[in-house]
Amino acid sequence: MDLRKALLALRFVGLRTTLRAVRAARERDRWEGRVLPAVPAAWRMVKPLETMEPLPDGARFAGPDAELEIRFLAPDVVRLTWTPGVLPLPYAVVRERLTEASVSHKRHAEGWSLESAAMRLEIRADGGIHFRDPSGTIWREEEPPARAGEAWRHRVRLGPEERIYGLGERATPLNRRGRIYRMWNRDPGGSYGPGADPLYLSVPLWLSLGPEGSYLVFYENPFEAIFDLGATEPDVACLTFAGGALRYFVCMGPPDQALARYTALTGRPPMPPRWALGFHQSRWSYESADEVRTVVQGFRDHDLPLHAIHLDIDYMDGYRVFTVDRRRFPDLPGLIRELEGQGVRTVVILDPGVKVDPGYSVYREGMAHSRFCRLPDGSVYRGLVWPGWCVFPDFTDPGVREWWGDQYRSFVEMGVAGFWHDMNEPTTFVAWGEPTFPRGVRHAMEGRGGDHREAHNLYGLLMNRAAWEALRRLRPERRPFLLTRSGWAGIQRYAWNWTGDTESTWAALRQTIPTVLGLGLSGIPYTGPDIGGFSGAPTVELFVRWFQAATFMPFFRNHAAKGTPRREPWVFGEPALSILREFLRLRVRLLPYLYTLAWEAAQTGAPLARPLFWLDPKDPALWEIEDLFLLGSALLVAPVMEEGARSRAVFLPAGEWYDFWSDRRFAGPGVVEVEAPLERIPVFVRAGSILPMAEDRLTLHLYGPSDGEGEGILYQDAGDGFGPYRVDRFHGQWEEGVLRIRRIWEGDLPWPEGGLRLRIHGVAPARAHADGRPVPVEGQTVIAPLFEELIVEIDSA
Ligand code: GLC
Repeated sequence: MDLRKALLALRFVGLRTTLRAVRAARERDRWEGRVLPAVPAAWRMVKPLETMEPLPDGARFAGPDAELEIRFLAPDVVRLTWTPGVLPLPYAVVRERLTEASVSHKRHAEGWSLESAAMRLEIRADGGIHFRDPSGTIWREEEPPARAGEAWRHRVRLGPEERIYGLGERATPLNRRGRIYRMWNRDPGGSYGPGADPLYLSVPLWLSLGPEGSYLVFYENPFEAIFDLGATEPDVACLTFAGGALRYFVCMGPPDQALARYTALTGRPPMPPRWALGFHQSRWSYESADEVRTVVQGFRDHDLPLHAIHLDIDYMDGYRVFTVDRRRFPDLPGLIRELEGQGVRTVVILDPGVKVDPGYSVYREGMAHSRFCRLPDGSVYRGLVWPGWCVFPDFTDPGVREWWGDQYRSFVEMGVAGFWHDMNEPTTFVAWGEPTFPRGVRHAMEGRGGDHREAHNLYGLLMNRAAWEALRRLRPERRPFLLTRSGWAGIQRYAWNWTGDTESTWAALRQTIPTVLGLGLSGIPYTGPDIGGFSGAPTVELFVRWFQAATFMPFFRNHAAKGTPRREPWVFGEPALSILREFLRLRVRLLPYLYTLAWEAAQTGAPLARPLFWLDPKDPALWEIEDLFLLGSALLVAPVMEEGARSRAVFLPAGEWYDFWSDRRFAGPGVVEVEAPLERIPVFVRAGSILPMAEDRLTLHLYGPSDGEGEGILYQDAGDGFGPYRVDRFHGQWEEGVLRIRRIWEGDLPWPEGGLRLRIHGVAPARAHADGRPVPVEGQTVIAPLFEELIVEIDSA
């Protein structure tokens, strides 16, 4: 371990734990040595395939040392499985089939072809596969796979212009090509900056864009993998998996369609409770009920909206999970009620490590019923975390998931609104090497047995599954809110994510955009950074700029490490405090829009924060832009990420754009230089957008194109639970002098009291009629009852 890391560790865990970490590392090495083969076997190509057995939706091929099964789950989605190797358990993929897909089979001189309505696969006898679209263009080209012992190697040719996105949580440029990535969830050790790899949450998935077309590929294999995406050979992606069957899904189509397919397979992110889209205040070191009260009071005193407060490990009794320190939090249920009365929800942290302590019931019960992971010699594995030596639940055992889930009962009864799952990579403190379990640690794997090589990347996913299932059981009338540091494919079904222990630097702020966008493109839409970075002391300016950027990110939380200077919004004084207040208020105004985007994500898997290429995946000019992002389809956000900058260049894609602050209009495509004083960052609205905002009353902001059409959706429900909802779709048509808006809707929720307001941007409304009756126009605002058709005549002057 290098000196910097050692010092950081000392700062966070103390001397005693650092010394114990030497012992922990030694023990890990001893066990690692026993399970890892001393000399890695050499790579050998699979022998040629000899037979093909047709299936209605695919085919099975066999050769002397490998088999390949191909199944179409829809005309544009195909699953390929090379064996031998253990098949994945259905932890990530929850659907077997999407739509009917019939396939025609052909035999050729060099092999076979399988054709659906959307694509043709040419399978050469040597195992190489070409994917073609109906016009014959090859959009993916695989070389025959190779094996070494239990490992698989897969090489895929990359086109010269091809870009690659995704891979889960990464601190690299948005286009992942040209680097080597590791799929092995890992705590980078209390602080990380751009370039660190791997991080806490990996997803072996990529989205490819190129002139030949676009597609998404997901490797359903949780073993450790290395993805060399053109780093060693520029035109080859070379992937190696340490074990398991080589199974992967290929979804053909533009990013929105491919991601909709992927999230149909691995699950869509469910509707969160509405408060979760608000502002969360957190800090490692809120040590007592009084301190928490003072912080929340500070938000009231300074007139700052607050939706949730997070309790980090200091609320626990000696870091024992599921306990509360009664001395410092004498009446947690009372505190939670009091805060909820002020509109503030309480979220508590939980780590998977259970302190070794015979006087502690969770440990005792877990030991008595064999809930914890064991070493190959049958002894319970111990690792070091905050409380000292810990044992770890085996979440791959359904009985353990249920037992663990039952532990949430007391917190649920206390009124805890959400749970924050940390250290679930899983992380253990070690003085050197892998900060996790030895790979030989045994796991139940739903009864079939396996070890940590297979279970490691699934650990966080399954901890969240245990909690999710428990919350659905314990509090069926409410939507669970879980926040997790680690995860794998499918985690979006259970939890939100934050980007972990980032540095407090401008570079880390800049990294936030590609990291958040990359997670969204990996099917994980709800994520965001610790504002100001976790581990350091941001300057006032850095904090303000970070806060402004995070206002438009799905998860909006202020959090910092123990020992760093305080950063509740008021500690920065003026003018920062007023600026932060304005952005907090803006977040509140945006809630109807964010909530509608959440509903869209639940329907289609589309991320809330999107890269520019989402607008037009065929336009190469958009492929590498990572210094700004879209929030839904209406807003373009260009954070300021340079110290001292008071203006910035913004690339506007094709079409008309409104400056959100001034309503000034710009025409894209092109780069514009815009003012960015400390109190604002450039934000643009796409012409044609209808943006719902919470103001005195619900207000629809209409940003008209000079001529043409536009639309906006508004989703509404009770904000939690599973009761009635409504979706109103507004379609606007701007013609010379007249704006016509039609509304169609579905759902049973009555429209909230008070009709609606429409604020017209860009032109001056003169007169308006709702369903034929005149309605008042005040300045730019039309005040209307709920209409089916609204006609606004525009002042031509
Ligand atoms: C980890 C988390 C951080 C948390 C700390 C103490 O470093 O990433 O958010 O504050 O542990 O629980």
